[in-house]
Amino acid sequence: MSQTVLITGTGRPHALGFNLVKRYLENGDRVFASVRRPSEALENLKKQYPDALHILNMDIASTASVNAAAAECAKRTESLDLVINNATTASADTMKELPDFDLDLVAPAVNVGAVGPIRVLKAFLPLLKKSGTTKTAPSLSPGPGNRIPGEAGEKTRRENACKITGPLSSEVRSTP
Ligand SMILES: NC(=O)c1ccc[n+]([C@@H]2O[C@H](COP(=O)([O-])OP(=O)(O)OC[C@H]3O[C@@H](n4cnc5c(N)ncnc54)[C@H](OP(=O)(O)O)[C@@H]3O)[C@@H](O)[C@H]2O)c1
Repeated sequence: MSQTVLITGTGRPHALGFNLVKRYLENGDRVFASVRRPSEALENLKKQYPDALHILNMDIASTASVNAAAAECAKRTESLDLVINNATTASADTMKELPDFDLDLVAPAVNVGAVGPIRVLKAFLPLLKKSGTTKTAPSLSPGPGNRIPGEAGEKTRRENACKITGPLSSEVRSTP
C-alpha cells in the first residue's frame, strides 16, 4: 500500500535525504521533499515524478518557515503517514578540541539538529494524526556514539535529538 511521506533536507544528490526520496518514489509512494534552497537534482526528479513528488521550501531552523511549509503541504494532502527528519547540520568546529571550540557555534547547530526535528513534528502533527496507518516519526540522528574529544557541540546536538525525538515519536504513534 502506498504511503505519503515527508522527508526533510533532500536537496543534495549524493546525500541520504535525496536518495530516500528516490527510493520512496520508486516504491510508488507520494513524497513531500523539503529543501532550504532550490535543488537542481530535485527539480529534475520532479520531471520524472510530476504527480508523486512535491517540493517544499523549509528551513528547519525557523519556526515560521516550518509552519509555512506545513500549511503548504496541507493544501496538497489530507494526511501524512511518515515524517523522516533527515535534515541536520554540525558546527564548523565539530572536530576541534574543546579549548579551541567556539561555543557560539553550538546554539545554531542545536537549533537545527535538536530543535529542528521537534519543529517539524509539531507543525506536521495534524497531518500525521490523520494518517490511516501506523505513524512513525524517526529522527535520523546517529546518536551519541563514542566520545570524540572536543566534540562537545556535536554531542549535545545528537544526544538532544535522540532524547527528544524518541519520546515524541512514541507520542505520535500513540495519539489517536
Ligand atoms: N552521513 C553519515 O555517515 C550518517 C550516519 C548516520 C546517520 N546519518 C544521518 O543521516 C542524515 C543525513 O546525513 P547526510 O550525511 O546525508 O547529511 P548531509 O549531506 O549533511 O545533508 C544534510 C541535509 O540537511 C539540510 N539542512 C541543513 N540545515 C538545514 C536547515 N536549517 N533547514 C533545512 N535543511 C537543512 C542540508 O541542506 P543544504 O543542502 O541546503 O545544506 C542537507 O540537504 C542526518 O540526519 C545524519 O545525522 C548520517
